[in-house]
Amino acid sequence: MPLARSLSVTSLSGLEEWDEEFDREDAVLFEIAWEVANKVGGIYTVIQTKARLTCEEWGENYFLVGPYMESSVRTQVELIEPCNATLRRTIDKMNSSGCKVYFGRWLIEGSPYVILLDVGFTAWSLDRWKSELWENCSIGVPWFDREANDAVLFGFLTAWLLGEFAAQCDEPPHIVAHFHEWLAGLGLVLCRQRQLPVATIFTTHATLLGRYLCAGNVDFYNKLAEFNVDKEAGDRQIYHRYCLERAAARCAHVFTTVSQITAIEAEHLLKRKPDIVTPNGLNVKKFSAMHEFQNLHAQSKARIQEFVRGHFYGSELMRHAIIFMCLEAKHSVMRVFSYCFVCRHLDFNLDKTVFLFIAGRYEFSNKGADIFLEALARLNYLLRVNHSEVTIIAFFIMPARTNNFNVETLKGQAVRKQLWDTAQTVKERFGKKLYESLLVGQLPDVSKMLDKEDFTMMKRAIFATQRQCLPPICSHNMLEDSSDPILNCIRRIGLFNSAQDRVKVIFHPEFLSSTSPLLPMDYEEFVRGCHLGVFPSYYEPWGYTPAECTVMGIPSISTNLSGFGCFMEEHIADPSAYGIYILDRRYRGVDESCNQLTSFLFQFCQQSRRQRIIQRNRTERLSDLLDWRYLGRYYVSARHMALAKAFPDTFIYEPQEPTSATGFRYPRPASVPPSPAHSLHSSPHHSEAEDEEEPYDEDLEAEKDRVNIRQPFNLPNRNKNHTVGLPEKN
Ligand code: UDP
Ligand code: G6P
Ligand code: GLC
Repeated sequence: MPLARSLSVTSLSGLEEWDEEFDREDAVLFEIAWEVANKVGGIYTVIQTKARLTCEEWGENYFLVGPYMESSVRTQVELIEPCNATLRRTIDKMNSSGCKVYFGRWLIEGSPYVILLDVGFTAWSLDRWKSELWENCSIGVPWFDREANDAVLFGFLTAWLLGEFAAQCDEPPHIVAHFHEWLAGLGLVLCRQRQLPVATIFTTHATLLGRYLCAGNVDFYNKLAEFNVDKEAGDRQIYHRYCLERAAARCAHVFTTVSQITAIEAEHLLKRKPDIVTPNGLNVKKFSAMHEFQNLHAQSKARIQEFVRGHFYGSELMRHAIIFMCLEAKHSVMRVFSYCFVCRHLDFNLDKTVFLFIAGRYEFSNKGADIFLEALARLNYLLRVNHSEVTIIAFFIMPARTNNFNVETLKGQAVRKQLWDTAQTVKERFGKKLYESLLVGQLPDVSKMLDKEDFTMMKRAIFATQRQCLPPICSHNMLEDSSDPILNCIRRIGLFNSAQDRVKVIFHPEFLSSTSPLLPMDYEEFVRGCHLGVFPSYYEPWGYTPAECTVMGIPSISTNLSGFGCFMEEHIADPSAYGIYILDRRYRGVDESCNQLTSFLFQFCQQSRRQRIIQRNRTERLSDLLDWRYLGRYYVSARHMALAKAFPDTFIYEPQEPTSATGFRYPRPASVPPSPAHSLHSSPHHSEAEDEEEPYDEDLEAEKDRVNIRQPFNLPNRNKNHTVGLPEKN
């Protein structure tokens, strides 16, 4: 029997130790998820951003397994021949037995290999596999649940793939298979039931019951220990899905969740305490020039402003009536006077406009869109009564069912384009006349520079900007307009984008894309151009959206019920000083949380440009904390633990003692205070204009903070291999 190999994680990413003690040649890692090369939500982001680091670690022995989705494959995957003989034999065998298995490279950073399983092609096996599932695991899946049917097909196909691969190996292999979320979980259950030589890991990114219960009107966190899980799942008609999820969690050699809060939830709802918490990271790219990200903000903001110019184009003829009573020949008479005035929609200063946004899968109350809207209504009131010059534009980017963009929204952009073209034409004609005048040595007669034709052209362009309606709330035609929760809430609170409103709302019910005819920006560009991301979630196991804001240097609001919010609270002494506002949704009622959110938003609106710039710098400095180079070690740890459990004769898992780096906290920044209330200007003769222009030695401030932050805490630094301990929670 070979000597047991000792596995431990003692370096930043664990890679160095792994190299020394573990011969990776004979181990193969499969990572299986429904969102491999198939974008749905945050799980796609986990897999996609982590790929580079995992490829660096596992090289040619790393394979992602996902469903074959033709539209995604066409744009994201390069199909190639299998990269080694064992896989070729495995795939050939499956394909000759009635499956369609594709092999390729996913065109993302790291270019990982992907194995894509066409579940539709094997639908003929569904009934047989369902009865096998019933006989072996007593889980019955109803015919009408399409998602669960896909989960069955995908599960049987992955187990087949792993079994076949093990059978095709010349030597007994050391396979690690990491399954994400219930949709992929059945593969794991079958691996265990068939006793395949596979070390299994199951990561849950949210529990099914948690999502469902929170979306209803349930006091979820206070009742966590009391739920009768089987009944609750049955009542919601998800009992079979719940069984698949729970079986995967229970059967896994190692069970992980993405945050501590979901770990507690899993313990109660899935009846297993996670072995490790594997927080989600990002692939952080640092710019060589310190403030490049600030320039990117300005560039992207300019593009959003252009869109806004189009959306709020033109003016409307408003008819108003005044009714009053008067006494006439001893009788009171009601008189009606009507008058008209022109109401310009773009009557706000774009330079004093703050862009807020919320984005993610459309789960109205779980994602906190409900309290965001309510807080916006309160903010609108506050800004109006305070005669604030600031205008807020709040974007809602949440995909819903639509049948394309609406005409009014597209028209706005067309009108804006026409105004731009007219201005260019007039400018050219003006320039030509000016040039001709200078050629003959004369100063131009300015009153003759524009002729009648120019004026006609300009008047026609202005007339085209008249509209009969308010700037639209929603950019698309919604299929379920009358029952849509965002639209209904807006109807109730009355935020209709009227000229008097200081808060305007734009609902874009589709994920952003750089090829859109309306707002041609991808999500990253859009986030960079905004001022604040608002994610007041009630149910959010992690929450990538605020994390993505952080690494792009954009402040955000999250909550102490989200994995991200709790993680930041744990690691930063004063999160709001860094632009990480954490809303209390744990100990406060909805109305109180809503007030707190309103006050965060109101305070944010009062910041000067200079304060926003300083805050963005601070926010961006936290990105190391969210880098896979640092957080990847939890995944390394999970794999080591699984190998040691599955192959105890070969591997031993040695958890490390916690070191000084575990439980570290970013201290409060040393430089200027963040909040407008406390912020004092260094110059006694300060004016608002200075706020805009005053040179600010960002490098110096940044250096102060960096020295303050990094030294005592031994934080990850990409240029050095720091030693950090294992996750403290395990
Ligand atoms: N997202 C996107 N395009 C958009 C809006 C959002 O790709 O227009 C992505 C965003 O980058 C994030 C994911 O959607 O990675 C949402 O993940 P999160 O963990 O916040 O929530 P989930 O939807 O998974 O619950
Ligand atoms: C970045 C740019 C500045 C610009 C500022 C606008 O910092 O480097 O040139 O003035 O963004 O900030 P604001 O918060 O007003 O969008
Ligand atoms: C789930 C959760 C989300 C998390 C994502 C990635 O979709 O809802 O909070 O960020 O998975 O783990």
